[in-house]
Parts: sequence; C-alpha cells; structure tokens
Amino acid sequence: MSDEVLTTERQAGERPFEETLRPRRLDEFVGQRRLTANLAVFIQAARHRGEALDHALFFGPPGLGKTTLAHIIANEMDARFHLTSGPVLERAGDLAALLTNLQAGDVLFIDEIHRLPPAVEEILYPAMEDFELDLVIGQGPAARSVRLSLPRFTLVGATTRTSLLTAPLRDRFGIVHRLEFYPGDDLAVIVGRSAQILGIAIDATAATEIARRSRGTPRIANRLLRRVRDFAHHLGSESVSLEAARWGLEQMEVDAFGLDNLDRQLLATIIDVYGGGPVGLKALASSIGEDRGTLEEIHEPYLLQIGMLQRTPRGRTVTARAYQHLGLEPRAPAPALFPETDAP
Ligand SMILES: Nc1ncnc2c1ncn2[C@@H]1O[C@H](COP(=O)(O)OP(=O)(O)OP(=O)(O)O)[C@@H](O)[C@H]1O
Ligand SMILES: [Mg+2]
Repeated sequence: MSDEVLTTERQAGERPFEETLRPRRLDEFVGQRRLTANLAVFIQAARHRGEALDHALFFGPPGLGKTTLAHIIANEMDARFHLTSGPVLERAGDLAALLTNLQAGDVLFIDEIHRLPPAVEEILYPAMEDFELDLVIGQGPAARSVRLSLPRFTLVGATTRTSLLTAPLRDRFGIVHRLEFYPGDDLAVIVGRSAQILGIAIDATAATEIARRSRGTPRIANRLLRRVRDFAHHLGSESVSLEAARWGLEQMEVDAFGLDNLDRQLLATIIDVYGGGPVGLKALASSIGEDRGTLEEIHEPYLLQIGMLQRTPRGRTVTARAYQHLGLEPRAPAPALFPETDAP
C-alpha cells in the first residue's frame, strides 16, 4: 500500500487532481524562491521588450513542479502552450510539424527531453538558436533541402535525468534551473492551499504532519492529503484533525520520512549486502537491479538530504540514522578480505 502512495511517479487517475491543484501563476507557486524570483525578472524583462522568453530547462526529481512551471511561463507570457515529450517525437518530421505550427511567442514544452532521438534533437539545434528549420524534401537523388524560418518561440524542456542530456542541447537553454526538494514548511503551505481548493477542512497541525511525510515532494503531499481525508471521513469526521491524519498515515504504512520502497531497498541493500558501505554506485545498482542514473538522480538526493546516506570518495555509506529508521542495530564493519588498495 505505502508503495503506491509514496511513489514520486504520477499515477493513473491522479491527473484531474494535478490539473486542478496546479498553480497557474508564479505567485501561487510555493517555495523554490530563488528560481521563482529569477524567473519573475526574466519574464518581466521579456514582456517589457515584447519578446519571447529565453528557452528554459527545468530539471530535478519527479513531482517537484517542472511541468507546472512550464504552464506558468505560458500563462505569465500570455502565450499559447503546446505540449509534447521526448518519446513521442519519434521522427524529425514529428518535431518539424510542431515547429511549423508555432506562432511568435508560443511556448513549446518538451517533457522528458532527455529521451529525444538524436535525429530529432539535431532539428532542434538550429530551431532553438537561429529559429530556422532545415527540412529535407523528397528522397534519393531528387531530395533537396530547404530552410524555413520559424517565429520566435520559447522552448521549455523538463527532465529528471540531466546526465542524459547532450551538452549541445543543454547549452542552447538560456535559463537552466534545478528544482530542489521542498522543506516541510513549504509543503505545509502547499497542503493548506490544496485543501482549500478541494474544499477539505484541515487543522494546521495535520497539514504539518502530512508535509513532514511527503518526501519533500508536492505530488506526494497532495496525494496524502486526499487519502487522509478519506480516513477522516471513515472516522466520521468532516475535517482532518491531527489524530485522523496520524491514523490514516499509519494505516497506509507511510514511512515517517516518506521513503518509498526503492529508497528503503537501497538503504537495506547497503546494510545487508555491503555491511553498511562503502559501496560503489555501480555495484549497488546491479545488486538492486535498478538503473544507476535513477538511483543517482531520483533516490539518492533525498536520502542524502535527510542524512541517511553519505557519499564518500570510496562509495556510498549509510548513517546511524538509516539503521535507526529501519529498526536495525549498526554493525561493526566486517574485516576486509583483501587489503584496501585505495584507502588513504
Ligand atoms: N511549488 C508548488 N506549489 C504548489 N503546488 C505544486 C508546486 N510544485 C508542484 N506542485 C503540485 O505538484 C504536482 C506535481 O507537479 P508537476 O507535475 O509540475 O511535477 P513535475 O516536476 O513535472 O513531475 P514529473 O517529473 O513527474 O513530470 C502539481 O500538480 C502541483 O499541484
Ligand atoms: Mg512533469
């Protein structure tokens, strides 16, 4: 149960709620203050000059607000919004069709931009840089290439996996921002805001409790809010009290830190298989059977932030806090079978 509740990935059926809860304007977007302050300056300047905003890239773990920001940019610029994603754009022609439909100032949002096929990405370079599109028309000896000029548009890219972006693509974005996990007080504000939109009466202490267990992620905070409301109703209460929230979270087996199954598996593997570490990321990934980049870019950042994991020059180690959280006794490190050659 807790797996499903705590995953950072978006779930089927969640979409209508995400749409309703999505902030529309920059001043409704909670937290990430440096990002929003900078963005406000860039937007105001572009509007003042009557130009399209620079291309913008947002990266960071799932559920932190990348898609939301893309929508906000379009709203704040009074621009039309077009949405697509890396895996959908299979052929160069797919992207060319989108680009030739753009009007000046439009926002084109490409989600999962790290998954663009190389042939499609190549079309994007001159489109982003010079607002030009090189098309090959016809086949074989009759083929010829034509160059079309495009209106000035804003490309907004989002990715959870920056390491998979090519340098030429990344370099073509004028605005590049990383989204960070949200601190508890920002998440409590988000829970309060969502509760108001959904017409849920909730005590401030209950909102804080949900925020604390949301893994720094607004998507999870919103999901827990809706589930906890059901538990409150089940208790016969119209409003969500701290007791109801605690009971609901307990019933859903929500981890006190909002860790999901893979987070726990990562910690447990370091403990069980590698005696607490240090272990290299590659070995760890193959023990868990998970992609190395997913561990590094989605799971590790949060575990590092809450101090359950440490990065050392010799690999990852778990902290006493991780043992405590998993209800395990820290063990003395196992004697090395071979002398360490890379020890300081
Ligand atoms: N700063 C914020 N303030 C209020 N709500 C937010 C904020 N960021 C995200 N949310 C809420 O969290 C939900 C998920 O955000 P969003 O879809 O933008 O995440 P994402 O980064 O695009 O995730 P993914 O990588 O999975 O696509 C949104 O529907 C929105 O309601
Ligand atoms: Mg998204």
